[in-house]
Amino acid sequence: MKKVSDVVAYTLKEMKNYAKPGMTTKELDDFGASILKEFRANSAPFMTYKFPGWTCISVNHEFCHGIPSKNRILKEGDLINIDVSAELDGYWSDNGNSFVLGDDIHQHQNLVNASKEILQKAIHHIKGGVKIADVGFLMETEAKKRGYKVIKNLGGHGIGRSLHEQPDELLNYKNKFDQRRFKKNSVVAIETFISTSSTYTVELNDGWTMVGNKGGYMAQHEHTIVVTDGKPIILTEMNGVWN
Ligand code: CO
Ligand code: CO
Repeated sequence: MKKVSDVVAYTLKEMKNYAKPGMTTKELDDFGASILKEFRANSAPFMTYKFPGWTCISVNHEFCHGIPSKNRILKEGDLINIDVSAELDGYWSDNGNSFVLGDDIHQHQNLVNASKEILQKAIHHIKGGVKIADVGFLMETEAKKRGYKVIKNLGGHGIGRSLHEQPDELLNYKNKFDQRRFKKNSVVAIETFISTSSTYTVELNDGWTMVGNKGGYMAQHEHTIVVTDGKPIILTEMNGVWN
């Protein structure tokens, strides 16, 4: 798990550094693909869902699962989300990062910072025995405090021998019917879905790209972690999301 997590974290970090105005999302994806291939890792969305790309790159009003395209040109101030998940030697890891490209001319940085902080708070709250719904409650409360909403139909998930394992639907809000608890020594991908106006995502006609039901913007940050008795082990720490 550590090996594949290092690979996806390194790939995500390098892709963020490589992104420049004028570049297409296809060029950025090709760059990420070259790193994954160098480490013999396979794209998880491609292997699992036949996703038409190596990584998901979503820009501005696209919330997630954006398809890398030679027609999509990155611009100064864009809100970009890159999500890199991969398989290596039978193990899987997942991480994601929303960031502003260059100067923040459209004022997205507040949303990005909120999402990062909420991921940090959520992860530090997780240990064996903690209720999954309580972490969702914390995430929604922290989003509201900052004037934001959470997306209700997306969630984190268990991960390890495949991309999505139990426990699934690690939501960003409290589901009062959810009695499940985090288990020590389990591996989970924790992700934020913090938005300016939407509370659900809807799929575009391309069959992949998700946008908000009420438009606006969304920031997502994701780490793959090992649940312990105390502080979780953050397997994808190298991605630099918190730096
Ligand atoms: Co995930
Ligand atoms: Co992901």
